[in-house]
Amino acid sequence: MKHFLTLLDITANEARSILARAGELKAMQAKGVKHHTLAGKTLGMVFDKASTRTRVSFEAGMYQLGGHALFLQTEATQLGRGEPIEDSARVLSRMVDGIMIRTHGHDILQRFAEYSRVPVINGLTDLTHPCQILADVFTYEEQRGLIAGKTVAWIGDGNNMAHSWINGAVCFGYKLCIACPEGYCPDDRMLAAACDLGADVEICSDPITAAAGADLVTTDVWASMGQEEEQAEREKAFAGFQVDDRIMAEASPNAVFMHCLPAHRGEEVSASVIDGPQSVVWDEAENRLHAQKALLEHFLK
Ligand code: CP
Ligand code: NVA
Repeated sequence: MKHFLTLLDITANEARSILARAGELKAMQAKGVKHHTLAGKTLGMVFDKASTRTRVSFEAGMYQLGGHALFLQTEATQLGRGEPIEDSARVLSRMVDGIMIRTHGHDILQRFAEYSRVPVINGLTDLTHPCQILADVFTYEEQRGLIAGKTVAWIGDGNNMAHSWINGAVCFGYKLCIACPEGYCPDDRMLAAACDLGADVEICSDPITAAAGADLVTTDVWASMGQEEEQAEREKAFAGFQVDDRIMAEASPNAVFMHCLPAHRGEEVSASVIDGPQSVVWDEAENRLHAQKALLEHFLK
């Protein structure tokens, strides 16, 4: 029994087969062909933080696969009243076939997985957001072909999304150029671990250098969930890191722009970029559904 806590929990071959299957599932869904490969299976979805895309894509995905999903907002469960993670994991995993969790500390997810009898899927922690990278790479390849050997520019906070782009470089073989303000760089240990496994990651001094010649430019909010109180301080620190037309002009003319969403226009991205011709953010959001259906099949079948 395997969990999906980070992208390093799957091999490059598994990652490729999940994306190939996502393409088949997307085509079947578009044609109205039934694909009830998870009939009779239940996914528990534990949410400690807000969500639109993750919740809806997992819930609709389970339904389309012939299964069922349970939305468990922690405040409405005994977890929210202090029932230990370990006990909740043991109980829930005796009743469902898989559990997706979105929570704060990555250690909470790890403890949950340790006590679970069924596969646990990371629906975002403070440290990583691996499901989003599956959808993002799927989207890039749908638009532009294989991502291996291409250059991805990450501009902004060295946050959970940045960490998952770093891990994704191990699975998918792209080069990653990262530009973050001082003090907001990705975690050194995560970076070192991924580089030891072959990730090609460069930390650049500024956003223009990171974007130069990139095939994919991406960013995320400056203050993630749980960092709302740092918003003003972060806005100051991130000045000059907005992905705008000036930065996109440095990238390859064929480059796409991605953002996991929700986005703040006028902060990490200009409206002209996110709503412009190079932006693929709506396909990217839709592809959460198709990529996660393939992930669910891979882990729950
Ligand atoms: N991108 C993403 O995970 O969105 P939600 O927070 O809406 O789930
Ligand atoms: N970095 C963001 C991603 C949201 C999908 C956050 O953690 O809030």
